[in-house]
Amino acid sequence: MNFVTHNVTLIPGDGIGPEVAEATARAIDACGVKIDWNRVEVTADIIRATGESIPAAAVESLMVTHLGLKGPVTTPVGGGFQSVNVALRKRFDLYANIRPVKSLHGLKTRFDDLDINMVIFRENTEDLYSGLEHEVVNDVVTGLKVITRTASIKIANAAFKYAKLHGRKKVTAIHKANIMKKADGLFLKCCREVAEMYPQITYNELIVDNASMQLVSRPEQFDVLLLPNLYGDIISDLAAGLVGGLGVVPGANIGPDCAVFESVHGSAPDIAGKGLANPTALMLSAVMMLEHVNEDAAAQQLQKAVEAVYREGKHLTHDVGGTANTNEFTDAVIAQLK
Ligand code: NAI
Repeated sequence: MNFVTHNVTLIPGDGIGPEVAEATARAIDACGVKIDWNRVEVTADIIRATGESIPAAAVESLMVTHLGLKGPVTTPVGGGFQSVNVALRKRFDLYANIRPVKSLHGLKTRFDDLDINMVIFRENTEDLYSGLEHEVVNDVVTGLKVITRTASIKIANAAFKYAKLHGRKKVTAIHKANIMKKADGLFLKCCREVAEMYPQITYNELIVDNASMQLVSRPEQFDVLLLPNLYGDIISDLAAGLVGGLGVVPGANIGPDCAVFESVHGSAPDIAGKGLANPTALMLSAVMMLEHVNEDAAAQQLQKAVEAVYREGKHLTHDVGGTANTNEFTDAVIAQLK
C-alpha cells in the first residue's frame, strides 16, 4: 500500500447510483487505501433545475482531483438535457473509454463454459455523439457523424499501447467502412497506421454486424477491440451480456490529465432504492482506478475479494441469480478483504 492520500471526486449519481457508490466506497476504504472522498451531487433533477449540463461543483472538484469515481446519471430519452456523461467526457477530453469484459468464475451465464477475456477501447468524444442534429424541414432530421484523424489516432494509440503493456496478442478494429466509406474509412486508416508501429500485435478488422454475430457465437476469439463511439457503446452492452450482464462490467474514461471510472450500466430506475443493485461493476471500476493511481496491491485485493464472493456463490445479487441485497453482497466482499 502507498502512504499517500488520494483525492477522489465521488459522484454517486442517481437511480441505483448512490447505492452502488456507497457500497464501493465502503469496499475501497476496507482495503486500507487512504482516500479523501470529495462527494459531489450530480443528478437529473439538479441538471434540470440548474440548466448546467455538468454541475459546476463537479467540474471544480475534478479540476482539483483529476480523478473521479462515478455512478450513473439518468438522461432523458428523445429530448431534454444533454447526457452529463457525454458532457463530462468532452469537458475533460476523456477520449478513451476502456471496458474489460471478463468471465467471473462461479457466475452462471449462457457462456460460463468459456473463458471470455476481452478489453473494449471505445472512442469517447465524437462520432454520432457530437450532438449535432438539425431539423432540415419538418419531419426531416440530420445528425452529424464526426470522425477526426486526431481522435482516431489517439484511441488507436491507447488500445495498442495497452495491448503491448498487458501482453495482449490481438487488436480488432470494428467498423462499417463498407457503407460509411469516408467516416469509418478514416477511422480504419488511422487504426492501420498505428498497427504498423506494433508489428508484434496481430491486427484485424471486422464489420460491426459480423462482429456482433461473432461476439455471440465465438466470444473467446476476441482480445482487444477498438471502436468508434457508437459501435463501442452498443458492443459494450452486448459484451456485458456474455459475462453476466451490466451489473458486473467495469469501465474507465481516461484523458490526458483526468480519469473518471464508472460502470457500463445506467441508473436502472426499475430497481432503484430497493436494495437490489449489484455493485460489482462499480467495484471493478474501482479496481481499475486503484491500478491507475499505482495502488496495485489494493486493486488486486479488491479484485480477488469480488472473485471469491462469486466463486463461493452464497451472497450474489438478484440480477445474477442470487438472493442477497446490495449490503449483504458488499459485506461479503469486505469479509473477504479482511
Ligand atoms: P440500465 O443500465 O440502467 O438498466 C438496464 C437493465 O439492467 C435494467 O433492467 C436494470 O435493472 C439492470 N441493471 C443495470 N445495472 C444494474 C446493476 N448494477 N444491478 C442490477 N441490475 C442492473 O439501462 P437503461 O434502463 O437503458 O437506462 C436507464 C437510465 O440510465 C437512462 O436514463 C440512461 O440514459 C442512463 N444511463 C446512464 C449511464 C451513465 O450514467 N453512465 C450509462 C447508461 C445509461
